[in-house]
Amino acid sequence: MTTEPLPRFTVIGHRGARGHAPENTLLSIDTAIRLGADWVEFDVQHHDGELWLMHDLTLDRTTNGRGPLRAHAADSLRRLDAGGGEIIPTLPEALDLIEQRVGVNVELKSWNGCAAAVAACLRDYIADGWPADRFLVSSFHLPELWEFKQLLPEVPLGALYCGVPLDWAGLAAELGAQTLNISGEFVDARLIADAHERGLRLYVYTVNDEAELRALRQMGVDGVFSDYPERALAVAGPAR
Ligand code: G3P
Ligand code: MG
Repeated sequence: MTTEPLPRFTVIGHRGARGHAPENTLLSIDTAIRLGADWVEFDVQHHDGELWLMHDLTLDRTTNGRGPLRAHAADSLRRLDAGGGEIIPTLPEALDLIEQRVGVNVELKSWNGCAAAVAACLRDYIADGWPADRFLVSSFHLPELWEFKQLLPEVPLGALYCGVPLDWAGLAAELGAQTLNISGEFVDARLIADAHERGLRLYVYTVNDEAELRALRQMGVDGVFSDYPERALAVAGPAR
């Protein structure tokens, strides 16, 4: 008896390649691409007319700045060191670096016009020839994703969960999400089967442990976010 080979899963560099370079910087994104990631993920916040790649709402952990990002004007954010002399990049700077070499998962991290600003930015890149399905826009804030969907419905959505709400599938379906992006602790065979029955791809964050990567692949998840894309690539299966 022959068994079907497992399909390759998608390797998504988390905040670029956070295990190798300061997170959410151009260096981190470039490193993920160089390591062979299929996609890169980064976090985006809208503030003072720009879309900043930044995970935390405060500057302290990842930059030499202090306090909330929103307490600083754009010109002072531009002068900060985001690690190793890297700047806090903006979304257009990241997209100009990537130049369609990998898929791009933009995670909306603020709810203050972020969806509208990201939609306006991605619309320009799509008009310039970037395929809409090489973007994935995700958020824990599902109403923000809903707003994004009204503005730019051709871009696929990822519903982000850090838990399993009672109506998890209903929420994802109502959004028309293509992926369910979920924290690893909540993944089990039942959830994977249910997601697949509903036509959703299941992506798991953030997986850096090699045994866990192998186990998730065996379970049939469709992709992983990893700070170390090369570890996920080592178990991802044959290149497409
Ligand atoms: O998008 C997957 C993952 O990035 C979500 O969690 O906190 O790392 O942005 P976080
Ligand atoms: Mg993120």
